[in-house]
Amino acid sequence: MPAWLNDAVFYEIYPQSFQDSNGDGIGDLNGIIRRLDDIKALGCNALWLNPCFRSPFGDAGYDVSDYCLIAPRYGTNEDAEALFAKAHEKGIRVLLDLVPGHTSWEHPWFKASMQAGENEFTSRYVWTDSIWEEPAGYGSLRGISDRDGSCAVNFFTHQPALNYGFYRPDRPWQQPMDAPGPLATREAMKQVMRFWLDLGCDGFRVDMAGSLVKGDPEGKGTIALWRDFRAFLDREYPDAALISEWGEPDKSLLGGFHMDFLLHFGPSRYNDLFRCEKPYFAGEGDASAFVAKYLDSCEKSGGKGLICIPSGNHDMDRLSRHIPSHRLKLCFAFLLSMPGAPFIYYGDEIGMRYVEHLASVEGGYSRTGSRSPMQWDDTENAGFSTAPKEKLYIPQDESPNRPTVRAQRADESSLWHEIRRLIQLRRAHPALQSEGAIAFLSDGAQGRPLAYTRTQGRQRILVALNPASRPQALPVPAGHLLYCQGDAPTLVGDTLTLAPGSAVFMQLI
Ligand code: GLC
Ligand code: CA
Repeated sequence: MPAWLNDAVFYEIYPQSFQDSNGDGIGDLNGIIRRLDDIKALGCNALWLNPCFRSPFGDAGYDVSDYCLIAPRYGTNEDAEALFAKAHEKGIRVLLDLVPGHTSWEHPWFKASMQAGENEFTSRYVWTDSIWEEPAGYGSLRGISDRDGSCAVNFFTHQPALNYGFYRPDRPWQQPMDAPGPLATREAMKQVMRFWLDLGCDGFRVDMAGSLVKGDPEGKGTIALWRDFRAFLDREYPDAALISEWGEPDKSLLGGFHMDFLLHFGPSRYNDLFRCEKPYFAGEGDASAFVAKYLDSCEKSGGKGLICIPSGNHDMDRLSRHIPSHRLKLCFAFLLSMPGAPFIYYGDEIGMRYVEHLASVEGGYSRTGSRSPMQWDDTENAGFSTAPKEKLYIPQDESPNRPTVRAQRADESSLWHEIRRLIQLRRAHPALQSEGAIAFLSDGAQGRPLAYTRTQGRQRILVALNPASRPQALPVPAGHLLYCQGDAPTLVGDTLTLAPGSAVFMQLI
């Protein structure tokens, strides 16, 4: 595992909504460069950028039409190189978003694969051999080509599935994983990775990573495929990191991913904590199913790789849509003290709100409200852009009390400062970092506190969190107070009593 992941704290940037540098209403790479110091001030030392490649933007850039070209609206490949270099000067790593499962239907590969005659791209996508047969289990594109066949899609209709083969082919048109077509797709994706790593990026967040091999319900083929990608990286780019959008660490980490996300979909019970009818961190929920599943995943992934818990992302509701503002700091006490590298979604550090009732933008649909432009200060468009308001990529939160970075930086008691302090604490204590071990003392059943120890070498730290609106007590080992959020706890003998909505970190002896 690349050593830098141990103390990495990631910041996810949705490039179109972060900082516009040329007044066209849409964020861009030069804007990100301008904001690197703000990210550094918070304490993050790694970025994940959502796709910034050429695209017709039917799915906000997850429909790539050229993997090796920065979309003109974001800048140029030279700007990307400059971003990598400037970020590195400041000690910040940069992951790009790799979308290996599908392209846009406008990608030249797909156009070539639609032709009736055999060519280099005939097997680049998953086509049946007759228009009258659809690829069972997948949506499909039909009647759009001279080629006789239907093509499987991976997500939206305009995102045809790239061909990595079938785990157990049982129709003549289903190719095995080691057939020439699937192997060529695999090689093409390695070339894309080489291209950006050579320009200076530090790795990739991999979109829909579990979806590549078809007819593979247990993921065995896809796991084997990623092992090959990992071996390639270990050979050629040992410092590069891969994180999967998979949500099943017992598969992804065995497949060689350095990190996997817990997500709003999949079996992790992540939603129990932050996004359900009674989220644990809102005060009355239950974290025990999450903890049980988490421990099970740790065991099944055999200590390989990191399980990463994000504050949110561009696909889920903003954290603040489900957690009351007076509990947001507590969420971050959790997120920043768990194993795995934490991921902060841009704007969550100031509690940016989900913007309700927006028209869908670029295939965002209900996700659009979580993608509104960053709120930096109290100037026009919150400092995001000098464009007229109606030209902004997505309308902003219009409430007069919308949070901004400037206001929160000026207030030591803000969420922004609390997160900054928590990141500093993590930096200063190896036990709290990605690879420190975890053991639970209390699993947060029925609103009870969540408590765990983190251990690295001889350093042991206890974390205790009480989201409930009543004081709660729990027995703890001996130690001294390291950090406290909210009202102070009392410690009598071995009984720690946590104030309502408070967090306590203790250094154990
Ligand atoms: C992933 C992305 C999402 C995108 C989809 C299709 O889930 O995070 O934004 O729409 O894949 O690429
Ligand atoms: Ca711009």
